[in-house]
Amino acid sequence: MVKVDKEQVLIFDTTLRDGEQSPGATMSLSEKIEIASLLDEMGVDIIEAGFPIASEGDFEAVSEISKVIENARVCGLARANKMDIERCWRAIDRADKPRIHTFIGTSPLHREFQVRLSKEEILDKISETVQYAKTFCEDVQWSPMDATRTEMDFLIKVVRLAIEAGASTINIPDTVGYTAPKESAEIIRKLISAIPELKEIVVSTHCHNDLGMATANSLAAVEAGARQVECTINGLGERAGNTALEEIAMALRVRQDIMPFSTNLDTKKLIRASRLVSTVSGFPVQFNKAIVGKNAFAHESGIHQDGMLKHAGTFEIMKPEDIGLTETNLVMGKHSGRAALRKKISDLGFSLGDNQLQDLFIKFKALADRKKEVYDEDLLALLSENSMTRSDELLQLVDLEVTCGTKAPQTAKAKISIEGKNHIVESTGDGPVDATFNAIKKVFPHSAHLQHFQIHAVTEGTDAQATVSVRLEEAGKMVTGQSSDTDTVVASAKAYINSLNKLVLRRRKKAPEAVAN
Ligand code: KIV
Ligand code: ZN
Repeated sequence: MVKVDKEQVLIFDTTLRDGEQSPGATMSLSEKIEIASLLDEMGVDIIEAGFPIASEGDFEAVSEISKVIENARVCGLARANKMDIERCWRAIDRADKPRIHTFIGTSPLHREFQVRLSKEEILDKISETVQYAKTFCEDVQWSPMDATRTEMDFLIKVVRLAIEAGASTINIPDTVGYTAPKESAEIIRKLISAIPELKEIVVSTHCHNDLGMATANSLAAVEAGARQVECTINGLGERAGNTALEEIAMALRVRQDIMPFSTNLDTKKLIRASRLVSTVSGFPVQFNKAIVGKNAFAHESGIHQDGMLKHAGTFEIMKPEDIGLTETNLVMGKHSGRAALRKKISDLGFSLGDNQLQDLFIKFKALADRKKEVYDEDLLALLSENSMTRSDELLQLVDLEVTCGTKAPQTAKAKISIEGKNHIVESTGDGPVDATFNAIKKVFPHSAHLQHFQIHAVTEGTDAQATVSVRLEEAGKMVTGQSSDTDTVVASAKAYINSLNKLVLRRRKKAPEAVAN
């Protein structure tokens, strides 16, 4: 069982499970390991690594993450049946500190339409499955799905039963993002006062953001006695997402006066985690996103700028350094060497092995040849492009030549490697990006539809790198790829190829019949 200091709030990150379930956010194995390692380094207490029964890929990811995580507990999700629980255990049994998280829908709507079981049948299932999970693992978390729309007397009954069956953490999900802060606190208070055992074990909160209240609801639950918050980086998650980890971390840090709770988080790693998850998921972070948005520390109006020059506290409640933001400054040019790059990368909060650094150095030199001024943001974009997350991809762009200008049609000639074999292909199109995408489609035919194509500049200036996001849809499933380059068409081609690689991964994923939010 997890022991918690009176005022400590455990951070349970579900970016790799609830986050990855958001349409289009499919991640590869190496990407998941990279995120899990960073979460561990950042001080996350529990990492929900996936839903092992969902697919071979999920199973493999949970099991590989279990082997490499050094500090955090590694948790796998399982529905309320023996097959799920056994599969979950097999995936996490190599972890130093494994946790099984099992759940069942308890609200009237879930009882009638999702699980199609009576109240009595649900009670039987809870006893049976929590006890079964306990035969494998000491640390069992249990969740009544859609708890916030479950009748209070039934909620008390199911929670009591799960504790009797051996659950050591009780998680209360607001599955559909329906609750509000006052109610969220009330539910936790009522549960704790009705079930004395809840004072001894961890009560957890898991909120979705459908009404934009996930962070407020989670904090209200904490004030009422919850000591574990389930959240995701950038608030990634199905529909409007989950509670954002960075918001919980900074709210608890900045408002110690009214919320005197501690976490194990190193908040200086927040910006790095946000950028990594954005790149890997292909979901850009909105400019005005709290804590990690591009504008979160920007001051535009004259009054604000004037105040900031006199005293930063006039318009800033936290320092950019607290989340790991360094000032945008000119870092290096084409004459900078490996040692300078290593130092800069470490200042940005990254530590790379020799091979990764060498790989990055080659890319940095190529960039410095093309771009006069290399900024921190450029290096961060290069880090995201790091071969560690791309070299295992099925399709790779080897070369690209395009002709564009006022005379149509524009043309593209691409060399694409598929499973290590090079293919040269040419095509025309309505503009260089269209011609390039047509060429790629020729060499890798597919029926996916382009749903979204977005370009944004990493820094200022006409020689800025472009970051491109490409979202594809195939048979109702979405994938998003992202890439950066000083050449916008090359960045577009790489982002398209990245999304096709994710599509291949996605095709291998078999959806479990009942989806967990
Ligand atoms: O939102 C939810 O109910 C979930 C459960 C699986 C905990 O994600
Ligand atoms: Zn959820």
